[in-house]
Amino acid sequence: MVEIKTGGNVEFAKGLGGVIACKSSIGYIDGAKGKLIYRGIPIEELAEKSTYEETAYFLIFGKLPKAGELDAFKERLVACRSVPAAVIEILKKLPRETHPMAAMRVGISALGCMDPEGDNMSIEGTTEAGIKIISRSATIAAAIARLRKGEEPVEPRPGLTHAANFLYMLLGKMPDDKMARIMDISLILHADHGMNASTFTAMVIASTMSDMYSAVSGGIAALKGTIHGGANERVVNMLMEIGTPDKAVEYVKNAIAKKQKIMGFGHRVYKAYDPRARILARISEDITRGEKTHKIHEVAKVLEKEVIAVYGKKGILPNVDFYSGCVYNALGIETRMFTALFAVSRTAGWVARILEYLPEGKMFRPRALYEGPEAMKYIPLGER
Ligand code: COA
Repeated sequence: MVEIKTGGNVEFAKGLGGVIACKSSIGYIDGAKGKLIYRGIPIEELAEKSTYEETAYFLIFGKLPKAGELDAFKERLVACRSVPAAVIEILKKLPRETHPMAAMRVGISALGCMDPEGDNMSIEGTTEAGIKIISRSATIAAAIARLRKGEEPVEPRPGLTHAANFLYMLLGKMPDDKMARIMDISLILHADHGMNASTFTAMVIASTMSDMYSAVSGGIAALKGTIHGGANERVVNMLMEIGTPDKAVEYVKNAIAKKQKIMGFGHRVYKAYDPRARILARISEDITRGEKTHKIHEVAKVLEKEVIAVYGKKGILPNVDFYSGCVYNALGIETRMFTALFAVSRTAGWVARILEYLPEGKMFRPRALYEGPEAMKYIPLGER
């Protein structure tokens, strides 16, 4: 407890660690047991039985949809897929080396500028904007991936699921059912995750009654960070740098000696194995068997064993970003795009949590513990 100058005692929590800032029925992480639920259903069950569209509906509207409701929601997502040509033109003007997450931030912002209803902060208006963002974020991410390679963006295809269409637009070819299902599961696993930094950022922006596009652009900006969503890209770079399984032990020793964090390990909430990492590890094992990408999965397995041996007791275990990169890599997606894929999935959680919070009508506004002087004389420039 610390005393604040205007009176009263308040709890001081560095980085807001452990602070409860709102109530929610959307999702819960039991960090000690390594469990994650969306609205009461374990993530393992959703990954096995649900689809991204159904999970997004469930997160946003608070109940599993009936067949007709799900069909209508899917149709709405499909109808929103195309983005205005002017948004693609803006993306084309960015330097080729722009990080995909910076380009995503621009793309979602541009989308907002071109939505005449974008500033409508009613529940209907924000829900509508949210659905457009969930659908179009995939189109924007795929366009960014194509433009980076000097290729024209691929128009969305109406007959495909969200996951299959996303892969189709990303790679410019039809994915097989197995690839599409893997993408679908990955979208489900990344759809929501409590009050993490990017979700909180998006909620703070929405709580000022700004607009949904600004909130999601802010969420993307926070997710871009290398110790948040940006870790998945760094994991694969690290695995490629290690190169072969026999070099993994040496890498861990060096990292410890240099006090370097090992990407894809550790979490603010989980002190047990992240359940999403467990699912992705299994998929990675399956998809890379016998493939030439097998190598980085093999490096990952040895690295995991070694890091757990050293840090496991401290609760530093693989997180979602550790195996997601191996999976995306096996799907043939460029490493630089990985965090943008994460953002496309997470739009559902951002939208759901914003819609849940808005009726509270309470802007987020923490305080800082002021440690500066209280009375300082202003010295004119010439006398300093
Ligand atoms: N490798 C080695 N040590 C790690 C570590 C990692 N990946 N993650 C945390 N630690 C250590 C820190 O060095 C620190 O050690 P100390 O107490 O001896 O100083 C201790 O664990 C606490 O770390 P801290 O970063 O303060 O905890 P946090 O709760 O803020 O950490 C993360 C959460 C995610 C920021 C952190 O684990 C991290 O940076 N991981 C790597 C990046 C990553 O994978 N991010 C994706 C998260 S989903």
